[in-house]
Amino acid sequence: TEIENGSFQWSAPSNIALVKYWGKKENVHRINSITSEQIPANPSISFTLDHCKTITLLDFKKKENRNNFSFDLLFEGQPKEEFKPKIQKFLERIALYCPYLKDYHFTIATQNTFPHSSGIASSASGMAALAINIMSLEKALYPDMTEDFFYQKASFLARLGSGSACRSVKGKVVIWGHHAEIDGSSDIYGVELPTRLHANFKNYQDTILLVDKGEKVVSSTVGHNLMHNHPFAEQRFAQAHNNLSTIKKVLENGNLTEFIQLVESEALTLHAMMMTSLPYFILMKPNTLEIINKIWQFRTQTQTPVCFTLDAGANVHVLYPENVRETVLQFIQDELVGYCQNGQYICDQIGEGAINL
Ligand code: PMV
Repeated sequence: TEIENGSFQWSAPSNIALVKYWGKKENVHRINSITSEQIPANPSISFTLDHCKTITLLDFKKKENRNNFSFDLLFEGQPKEEFKPKIQKFLERIALYCPYLKDYHFTIATQNTFPHSSGIASSASGMAALAINIMSLEKALYPDMTEDFFYQKASFLARLGSGSACRSVKGKVVIWGHHAEIDGSSDIYGVELPTRLHANFKNYQDTILLVDKGEKVVSSTVGHNLMHNHPFAEQRFAQAHNNLSTIKKVLENGNLTEFIQLVESEALTLHAMMMTSLPYFILMKPNTLEIINKIWQFRTQTQTPVCFTLDAGANVHVLYPENVRETVLQFIQDELVGYCQNGQYICDQIGEGAINL
């Protein structure tokens, strides 16, 4: 099909990992291998979020030459030169799989629903939103494409932008990385948890406490690489496999005690890997620890099934079931807001994935 011009618009959410992706497989240089880049050293699983998302409009016009990629980038309506190299690199990476990209000039207009530089990583939602827009163009060019292929390739492309982005395309709970007990799981795209989610996790809540909005001292790209030659790497990767087996059962049987223990252990292990790499680094802030201690105190005193998790930063994700929402929000307002930068936090919950707008 010949297509001269048009536009698509999708939103894609952020996600929060329960079993963390930290470390990539060393580049496997296989000729013609489509699997050598961005391969996780261990499988991971995440809750898809609902409110924290990126909304991206992809406008395209046929151009004369096919010499290079051509695109303009608007962030919240303004041209954004700083973001262009990242997009350029992404397009180069996916060029082999999307040969039609050089036929068009693109305008990519993107915005986030969460405050800019809040310390919430926008790379997962941003790359997922861009990847799925590109798949809309591909579908327009190749209308016979199945829906399964559409979402699978969108996740595959998103992964090449930012690893965890492949978990932000479709489904409430998404697994990325091959795991022996999960049928269809893959190192090159995310798949939905194949089994039914227990009712305890319906509309599971994630309140994100914004502790620090500053630039990270170490990027996640650098962090992943520090898992090469890390003294605890092999143990950690084995543990992630075991934790994924366990959490799969927990998500089916609804055991919140086990859920809490596993999720908090994963968060602390992620940061323990950072503290034990060379060079070592710390992304938590004093207020991160204050909040963790308050959550533990509150849980012991009230038996409320609330826990925390962390991504590669100082912010704290507070996770809890919908039926204790009032109690936990009251606790957050009374005891945790004081530790947040400008008292800021974001109420989110499990979502479904990308939405065509
Ligand atoms: O997708 P990246 O390369 O930014 O890595 C994200 C890593 C963590 O957020 C720390 C863990 C995860 O699984 O999302």
